[in-house]
Amino acid sequence: MRLRRGAGPPGWAVGSPAGPLVLCLLCLLLALGRPLLALPSPAPSPSPGAAPDADPARHAAVARAQADSRCFLESGSSAESFFVSEDLPVGSVIGVLSVLGDPSEPHGDIALRLQETDSPVRVSPGSKNLTLMRRLDKEGIEGPASVYISIICDRKRTADPGLSIPVNIRVTDANDNAPQFVNAPYVLNISEVRTKNFPK
Ligand SMILES: *[C@@H]1O[C@H](CO)[C@@H](O)[C@H](O)[C@H]1NC(C)=O
Ligand SMILES: *[C@@H]1O[C@H](CO)[C@@H](O)[C@H](O)[C@H]1NC(C)=O
Repeated sequence: MRLRRGAGPPGWAVGSPAGPLVLCLLCLLLALGRPLLALPSPAPSPSPGAAPDADPARHAAVARAQADSRCFLESGSSAESFFVSEDLPVGSVIGVLSVLGDPSEPHGDIALRLQETDSPVRVSPGSKNLTLMRRLDKEGIEGPASVYISIICDRKRTADPGLSIPVNIRVTDANDNAPQFVNAPYVLNISEVRTKNFPK
C-alpha cells in the first residue's frame, strides 16, 4: 500500500512536471522554430526568385544616379547666388549657372527651365545664362530689389525627376539714390570733460 502509494504518486509526481516540461520545450521549439522558419523563408524565396534580378538592377540604377553628376552645382553647394547692379541693362547676362551638364540644343544632356512663370530673369535657351528681362531696382521702386527663383534642371533621356536649384539674385545699389554729402567727411570733436563741467 505504502509502496504502491509511494510508487504511484512519485511516478505521477515525476510524470506531471515532466509532461508540462516537455510541452514547454515543444512550445519553445515551436516558438523558436516559427521565427527561425519564418525568417529564412522570405530570404531564400526571393534569392532564387525575382530578388537577384531586381536587386542588382536597383543597385545599378542607384549607382548610376549617384554617378550622374548632371544638374548638380560645380561648387557642390545647393544654391546659387548672383549680385546684379541695378543699372544693368535689360537683356544683359546676369550670370552663368555653374550647373554640371550640357544644356546645348538638341544634343545636350540637360535642360534648364525656370519654375516661375513671371520672373524678371530667364534662362537663355540652350545655355546656362541667366538673362535680365525686366529692370531691377535696389529701392524696389522701378523693379524688385531681390529675386528668388528656382531653376529646374532635367536630366535628358532619364525618368529622373528634375532637380530644383534655388537661385538668389541680389540687386546692388548703383548709388543713384544715395544721399549727397557736401564737404564730407565731417570731423566732430566731443569733449567729455567739457560736457561734465558744462554750467547748469
Ligand atoms: C551666355 O553668356 C556668355 C557671356 O557670359 C556669352 O558669351 C554667350 O554668348 C551667352 N550665350 C547665350 C546663348 O546667351
Ligand atoms: C579736433 O581736435 C583736434 C585735436 O584734438 C584738432 O586738431 C582739430 O582742429 C579739432 N577740430 C575741431 C573741428 O574742433
